[in-house]
Amino acid sequence: MAYMGGQAYWDRKFVKRDNQILNPEQSLVEHIRFFKKGSVLDIACGDGRNALFLLENHFKVTGVDFSGEALNRLNKFAAERKYAVHTIQMDLSDLEAWRDIGVFDNVVINHYRLGKNRMSRMNEHLADGGVLFVCGFGHKHQDETSVREEDLIQPADFEDVERVMERLAYVEHQDRNGFFVTYVFRKA
Ligand SMILES: C[S@@+](CC[C@H](N)C(=O)[O-])C[C@H]1O[C@@H](n2cnc3c(N)ncnc32)[C@H](O)[C@@H]1O
Repeated sequence: MAYMGGQAYWDRKFVKRDNQILNPEQSLVEHIRFFKKGSVLDIACGDGRNALFLLENHFKVTGVDFSGEALNRLNKFAAERKYAVHTIQMDLSDLEAWRDIGVFDNVVINHYRLGKNRMSRMNEHLADGGVLFVCGFGHKHQDETSVREEDLIQPADFEDVERVMERLAYVEHQDRNGFFVTYVFRKA
């Protein structure tokens, strides 16, 4: 599904950004201790604030996003820092495209709602002992003009994940920007 808007919406947003990379998600910084050493698939990576943080922390990172502008920025930021990052431009709604994505030690989904059907299959993309980290606007979030009801992460999104993975953490966080949830799972 498209999160908040389509590809043109996101391309326009990334083109307008200045030359600064944003800070990584605080919740990712706090939960990185759970991650398995090795590779990370960063789903809907945007221009890579989290990918760069993971590279800095010695993970091998693959970032996927449908915005070419976002991926151009990520590749530029990574090159400036002499990091090797692998990027794939794909629409996450395209079920065929998922076939070639592969298997990783960790998957990060930050500020994107994957939806229950695809979330249920995330264990297929994780190695044994691999970690799934999901963070973003949660079910109690209200009032935003840009974040739509269908963009909110719902507890039901994880019903199938809970059956096959161990939940390591669930955190709710409310601040002036809204209501956020973090989920961390490990594949047995
Ligand atoms: C709020 S940004 C989050 C970016 C990054 N994960 C972060 O935390 O900074 C949402 C991202 O989702 C991407 N996106 C939205 N819908 C998508 C889709 N259907 N396929 C691939 N990427 C999508 C956008 O291009 C954008 O980069």
